[in-house]
Amino acid sequence: MDDTPKHLPDTLESLRAKARAAGFGMSSEDRTGSLLAALAATRPQGRILELGTGVGEGTAWLLSGMDADSRLVTVELDPALQSLAREQLGADPRVTWVTGDGGEWLEQYDGEPFDLVFADTWPGKFTHLDRALALVAPGGTYLVDDLLPQPGWPEGHASSVAGLLERLEERADFRSVRMTWASGLLMAVRPAG
Ligand SMILES: C[S@@+](CC[C@H](N)C(=O)[O-])C[C@H]1O[C@@H](n2cnc3c(N)ncnc32)[C@H](O)[C@@H]1O
Repeated sequence: MDDTPKHLPDTLESLRAKARAAGFGMSSEDRTGSLLAALAATRPQGRILELGTGVGEGTAWLLSGMDADSRLVTVELDPALQSLAREQLGADPRVTWVTGDGGEWLEQYDGEPFDLVFADTWPGKFTHLDRALALVAPGGTYLVDDLLPQPGWPEGHASSVAGLLERLEERADFRSVRMTWASGLLMAVRPAG
């Protein structure tokens, strides 16, 4: 089976060009993007959180799956990177752009929970995990990628990933599925009932 996504967001090519020009190589791959779009599409009026905008490739995938009444908050530490995403996607009224540290944002946020949390940076994944999981609504999904070993991983990262998987497995309040697909994903769903 060829699992290469065939329908890409219109904005993706331009975002990729920006990523290349900026030397940014951490964008989500297309298979992960297609899953983001599919999950977003399950949620009319969905409330979605992305931690780590990068140049906006994951954002573009999420937006492509969201309906007109869904809302996305995306948080990025690096203003230069997020400005590349905003150049391309900033006119979309469904997005709230937060420039700052994801950990601080998670500590301070006191709004509604989210139907989908894509934790794609350190906070919400390797730090502040419990806080990110607390923000998942009943029936909502928490998703992380980059769990399969990569050549560029820093020293000690494999044990951080193993610790993350263990902590997620211990959460009796979530149903988890590990996927050795794309960069390696884990999806954890808070039961609706
Ligand atoms: C894997 S990339 C995000 C890719 C993007 N979500 C996508 O799907 O294309 C991780 C991003 O997290 C950002 N980042 C690093 N530390 C952060 C922090 N403490 N708070 C928020 N963002 C952070 C990095 O600058 C980088 O852009």
